[in-house]
Amino acid sequence: MTSPSSIALTADGIILEVVTAGAAVRRVTLTDEDRPLDVVLGFGDRADYGTGLDYLGATIGRYGNRIGAGRFSLDGVVHELATNENGNTLHGGPEGFDRREWTVLDRDAAHVTLGLHSPDGDQGFPGALDVTVTYTVAPGSVRIDYRATTDRDTVVSLTNHAYFNLGGEGSGPVDDHTLAVPADTFTATDAALLPTGELRDVTGTPFDLRAPRRLGDVLATDDEQLRHGGGLDHNFSVRGSGLREVAVLRGASGRTLVVESDQPGLQVYSGAHFDGTITGPGGTPYAARAGIALETQGFPDAPNHAGFPSTVLRAGETYASTTAWRFGHDA
Ligand code: BGC
Repeated sequence: MTSPSSIALTADGIILEVVTAGAAVRRVTLTDEDRPLDVVLGFGDRADYGTGLDYLGATIGRYGNRIGAGRFSLDGVVHELATNENGNTLHGGPEGFDRREWTVLDRDAAHVTLGLHSPDGDQGFPGALDVTVTYTVAPGSVRIDYRATTDRDTVVSLTNHAYFNLGGEGSGPVDDHTLAVPADTFTATDAALLPTGELRDVTGTPFDLRAPRRLGDVLATDDEQLRHGGGLDHNFSVRGSGLREVAVLRGASGRTLVVESDQPGLQVYSGAHFDGTITGPGGTPYAARAGIALETQGFPDAPNHAGFPSTVLRAGETYASTTAWRFGHDA
């Protein structure tokens, strides 16, 4: 297979590298200080994009996170999906959008639009889905706009699986970062990380991130839910609606990232599984907690929980969603 191509977008203080395989973010390099700093995890070898390894920076679809037993019913019709994790469907199935070669539809120095056609029945999902992802850089920020249309009623929840490390990729675990998430509840899971349907109050739990908490302290807490995920691997039900702040991450050096989203959920995944198999562009193998993913999304398994916000996309309607990453620095 030929190596996927890569596209660099630039604005004041930032360079974004996107690869066509998986429409993935490979590097976000901040250039506003003496030393350029790449703050997302990426593969050192560009040829590793699209191989299905760990979803680094990839566009996830058709459905971010898990659909239980690879099955859901929509308007009384049961749909069986391809499964890829303990009989469940994770991140769109075994051949998710992260594995596809996307087409560059449009680009200039500050933006690129990538497109993908997913045929009717792809991974078991109903409806032919046409998807675009547009990355746009502006001084100190990245904006991601998702669009999708279908010819049959279906479900969709797209996200990006970037792992952040504000000390720079390969600089060690994110334990000294602080994280704040304005969520009063999170979707509690079973041991297989499937939502039970319960929206659990964060009060008195390690999931209370309404004020910033040091990740190392959160992860050191003895808690059954944390044990399920080998750390944080949970969907927060973020307050409010429309494009709003859903997370604030702060590195030990005072580097900050504000994540904005118009989605109801945010998956916080503290990267327990990194075991040195993946080596980043700087040559350092990634160990546990090498980065933290902040995935803006519909709720996991929402097609099987009537009480969760709907992820149904009707034929003729347009799915539209926006995520923004705003980088800064404490004074
Ligand atoms: C999920 C994890 C999963 C990981 C794979 C995350 O979005 O929440 O459970 O292991 O993706 O990289």
